Amino acid sequence: MCGIVGIVGTRPVAPLIVDALKRLEYRGYDSAGVATVSDAGLDRRRAEGKLVNLEKRLADSPLDGTIGIGHTRWATHGVPNETNAHPHFSGDVAVVHNGIIENFAELRDELRTDGYDFASQTDTEVVAHLVSRGMAQGLSPVEAAHAAVRRLEGAFAIAIVFAGEADLIVAARNGPPLAIGHGEGEMFLGSDAIALAPFTSAVTYLEDGDWAVIRRNAFSIFDADGNPVQRERRQATTTAYVVDKGNYRHFMEKEIFEQPEVVSHTLAHYLDFSAGRVRKMDAPFDFATIDRLAISACGTAYLAGVVGKYWFERYARLPVDIDIASEFRYREMPLSAKDAAIFISQSGETADTLASLRYCRQAGMKIGAIVNVRESTIARESDGTFPTLAGPEIGVASTKAFACQLSVLASLAVRAGVVRGVIDAQEEQRLVRQLVEAPRYVNAALKTIDQIERVARELSHVRHVLYLGRDTSYPLAVEGALKLKEISYIHAEGYAAGELKHGPIALIDEDMPVIVVAPHDRVFDKTVSNMQEVAARGGKIILITDEKGAEKAGIETLETIVMPNAPELIAPIVLTVPLQLLAYHTAVLKGTDVDQPRNLAKSVTVE
Ligand code: F6R
Repeated sequence: MCGIVGIVGTRPVAPLIVDALKRLEYRGYDSAGVATVSDAGLDRRRAEGKLVNLEKRLADSPLDGTIGIGHTRWATHGVPNETNAHPHFSGDVAVVHNGIIENFAELRDELRTDGYDFASQTDTEVVAHLVSRGMAQGLSPVEAAHAAVRRLEGAFAIAIVFAGEADLIVAARNGPPLAIGHGEGEMFLGSDAIALAPFTSAVTYLEDGDWAVIRRNAFSIFDADGNPVQRERRQATTTAYVVDKGNYRHFMEKEIFEQPEVVSHTLAHYLDFSAGRVRKMDAPFDFATIDRLAISACGTAYLAGVVGKYWFERYARLPVDIDIASEFRYREMPLSAKDAAIFISQSGETADTLASLRYCRQAGMKIGAIVNVRESTIARESDGTFPTLAGPEIGVASTKAFACQLSVLASLAVRAGVVRGVIDAQEEQRLVRQLVEAPRYVNAALKTIDQIERVARELSHVRHVLYLGRDTSYPLAVEGALKLKEISYIHAEGYAAGELKHGPIALIDEDMPVIVVAPHDRVFDKTVSNMQEVAARGGKIILITDEKGAEKAGIETLETIVMPNAPELIAPIVLTVPLQLLAYHTAVLKGTDVDQPRNLAKSVTVE
């Protein structure tokens, strides 16, 4: 979603703000803007589209001032144009905002009645006018900001600066994350530690309901009632290198190719390679004593959870309820304090996943989180975290985080099987040996590039693609379809292969490529039967399989992409790679913006 930056500095801040916004651009890139306070008062530059447009505007017309705020936008209210770009002004007040103000229509009507005109279609502008009205009524800037924030309903992270106040930013958080960065005689504010990494690694996260007064040499945090509160100062693990693509064309490509390394790092955290055991972990609950496990997440992280369900049920005989978080939080599922829940999130900030976590907490459940950003809200609100060691993921389409989520889930499933008495020491060693091999297989999978490029050329001309898979290859098929549609804008559907004849088979004709994910596993023959059904109707099959599967399939395909014969447990981690590469190369051929596809944002902090 939107990204926020604020700096109370000692040097001209506009270029520094733009630098920090570049590191937040993965959150939103519809438009961007900066406002600074100087002796001349408030001033701003805004531009529609990517940050480069804002940079050009600032180069033509620089901004003075050692204090300022900036914003990259992911539109919620109002189309992406310059007028709707933040910061929004009202009198002596400038505001940037991430989130949705749910009662904005009511507030807008009230402010209009009081004579305030609205220049934009955004919900944010009500905040600027509310603060401005408070000041006109005699409140100080800080009092007016606090009074305004108290009127807001919904999810928001806000930063406000004021004309004539060269040493003051007021910030507030209710939902989307906001971190204060501690500098030497300077203070920073950012949507995440990545934005602040070039300036400082010492950060303090605001909690929900907090608001803060930030000055060059001091800051104070208050709860919603205005009582001062202390929040922990942490050392962020994010480093400044993240914006570097290296020799790759896109972050997504780089992140796909990082997978052998990050899968290896992640597995090393969970597995004792030499003993052939899953390490005893500081788990937030005991897999041995729970009757059920609830897993919930969104998008790609959810699909990792679906693979996890198969694994927990198969290897640990532990029943799993898997839910899309936006459904889970409202569907009034009976929950038991005896059960446990795992939430999966790369960013650790996804609004629906966080709300589901809080829902389970209310039911008294113990909560674990598989997260990539260790300082994230989901990590902090869990009883324990199971980190993925993927490093910062910048490409909007999740790739290496998914492979690491699978690595964690596989390790946990084996551990759960051990403590539940389903897996004996010998079997544990066998499965751990398989897991240890995963990075090597992933590396081999990355070498299928020539074939992938051939298939991508084919796909780049079609409008629809169907993906099929069974067992753990079913969620992979859905993930493959998700990757393709989000970055190449080709319509794609992922289906359980057995569901084909219950509807989607009607779509099959010679124009519809059908990508079948089918390693030579326990359900291979069943999937081959489904491929026969497709072939009989003239469908063009692209088979993603392993060497054994390629030998046994006995079916004419447009192309067969052959992966190494990976052991069953790690096959989903390996088969993910061709699906990612296929989507990536198709998108490159179509010339889309791979790292920042239209309409998407990396960290989805609104419902
Ligand atoms: C797809 C993708 C999204 C995310 C989803 C959840 O490539 O990246 O579907 O997986 O928005 O995000 P996190 O994992 O940050 O909770």
